[in-house]
Amino acid sequence: MINPSSRFKHYGNWALVTGASSGIGMEFARQLASRDMNLVLVARRGDALTKLAFEIKREFAVEVKTVSCDLTEENSVEELFQELAGNEIDLVVMSAGMEASGHFTKISLERHIQLERLNIDVPMRMSRLFGEAMVSRRRGALIFVSSVFGYQGVPIVANYAASKAYILTLGEALNVEMKPHGVDVLVLSPGLTDTPMPAQMPIDLKKMPITTSSPKQVVQVALRALGNKATVIPGFVNKFYAWENRLIPRSWPVKLFGWLIANAFKKNRRDELLYAKAAR
Ligand SMILES: NC(=O)c1ccc[n+]([C@@H]2O[C@H](COP(=O)([O-])OP(=O)(O)OC[C@H]3O[C@@H](n4cnc5c(N)ncnc54)[C@H](OP(=O)(O)O)[C@@H]3O)[C@@H](O)[C@H]2O)c1
Repeated sequence: MINPSSRFKHYGNWALVTGASSGIGMEFARQLASRDMNLVLVARRGDALTKLAFEIKREFAVEVKTVSCDLTEENSVEELFQELAGNEIDLVVMSAGMEASGHFTKISLERHIQLERLNIDVPMRMSRLFGEAMVSRRRGALIFVSSVFGYQGVPIVANYAASKAYILTLGEALNVEMKPHGVDVLVLSPGLTDTPMPAQMPIDLKKMPITTSSPKQVVQVALRALGNKATVIPGFVNKFYAWENRLIPRSWPVKLFGWLIANAFKKNRRDELLYAKAAR
């Protein structure tokens, strides 16, 4: 039987995880530590990172550094890269992300721009900088966290879904581009996952015909797929949604998702974030 840690050690010793203070990123940190990888944990909430670092160091014999920063601030990615110049970062997980739900014109322009920075600009910059260092060493791995929403346009979360489509396309292209240089690239596209993000959304996603996964299941699927696949979708129902898109006219799943999400919108947020009736 393969020692689970041996599959990761060939990348090197250090993994960087963004969004490590919560949800899927936190679970990546735990599972990578269990595979003997030293960690750099990145997010805004330094106290949550320090707590996680303490727990991980107590449980696993690995080194853990924390970097508290707002990745949407100008030059934050470049500064992070400089700060870590002394460490060879061999595996990068880009899990930090945010959502924006509501009618596109009711969400503030500032929030749309913030989302674009965190969900698109940050992973693009990180993969450019850390990816170049990996290519020159001829080893390493990049994991992008997209979403099943990235497989089609999704009304009411239009900018979020579009940002995840960008990540999906970027990552699947980089998988082919970087493979000959010894760098594995994976795009993970979770469906509904039990983390604070969907819980804070004004949409009751449990009212939609989708299943919920735990962060543990999602990360296990990703780490199994790394090095073997370009893209991975945890869960049969989620896989089905992405697959059936290829067989039917492009507009159908967009309309279906729009209808499902509008119906699952929480009543107390409707007036604030949706129009009563679409104007004709
Ligand atoms: N949960 C789902 O159902 C689901 C489904 C599909 C895809 N995803 C994707 O999975 C990824 C992780 O989401 P999650 O569900 O784990 O959500 P989460 O628990 O809310 O985690 C989001 C993480 O991003 C960090 N973050 C947010 N803004 C940041 C900023 N400006 N700078 C640095 N870090 C920032 C947060 O940390 P701080 O607040 O401490 O900064 C937190 O650690 C996201 O990309 C999300 O789009 C989630």
